[in-house]
Amino acid sequence: MTDNPADDAAEAARLEAGRLLFARQCDFLRGAVSENDLPDYTLPEVAFAGRSNVGKSSLVNALTGRKTLARTSNTPGRTQEVNFFDLDGRLTLVDLPGYGYAAAPQQKVAAWTNLIERYLRGRPNLRRVMLLIDGRHGPKKTDITVMSMLDEAAVNYQVVLTKCDKPKPADLAKIEDGIRALQAKHVACHPEILKSSSVDKTGIELVRAAIADLVA
Ligand code: GTP
Ligand code: MG
Repeated sequence: MTDNPADDAAEAARLEAGRLLFARQCDFLRGAVSENDLPDYTLPEVAFAGRSNVGKSSLVNALTGRKTLARTSNTPGRTQEVNFFDLDGRLTLVDLPGYGYAAAPQQKVAAWTNLIERYLRGRPNLRRVMLLIDGRHGPKKTDITVMSMLDEAAVNYQVVLTKCDKPKPADLAKIEDGIRALQAKHVACHPEILKSSSVDKTGIELVRAAIADLVA
């Protein structure tokens, strides 16, 4: 709530647009394992990027209200393909493999990193990258590297803090301050920081609204 009824009405309309968009049918389209395998889709795309195990696939499931649409795991390195999901012909959601997973064989890590980068740099219909950062730990060096790569490629991106059911509010606030300081140096980063939990569903409606804004 704000002290301006017009702002409140606009915010309620955004949330409703997000709710309606994600109430639609969502289906797995395909998984790409290499650059040549990346399909040419024309619909607007929103991709979920972030370190291994940050909660990308869980967020896709929470947004779509489906428990097993995207496969999740306690073990980092679960998603090994670029997975495309069709949101009822309106939007394609893209669940990426995680970066920064040091325990996988080096060759595999290099192949994933290459695939993610090729995807992120070469996608004309990519409207925004949701850059997921663990709300318990804040940004790591690899996140900052990815932010710089997205700035350079002029790809619009937005930080979504994940696992916000875990940290204490004061610790989460410090992490947000740190991200705000980083944003000043990263031109392609959207100013609004989203806070989410796929477990207690906090903030999911705001992530839906942010995505709905992109296809309105
Ligand atoms: P990779 O595909 O391996 O890169 O991982 P990912 O980023 O897709 O993460 P995934 O969704 O598979 O989740 C990793 C682990 O984090 C799982 O054990 C999830 O249950 C857990 N997790 C995901 N989101 C949340 C959250 O909001 N809160 C908490 N507490 N745990 C979460
Ligand atoms: Mg995953």
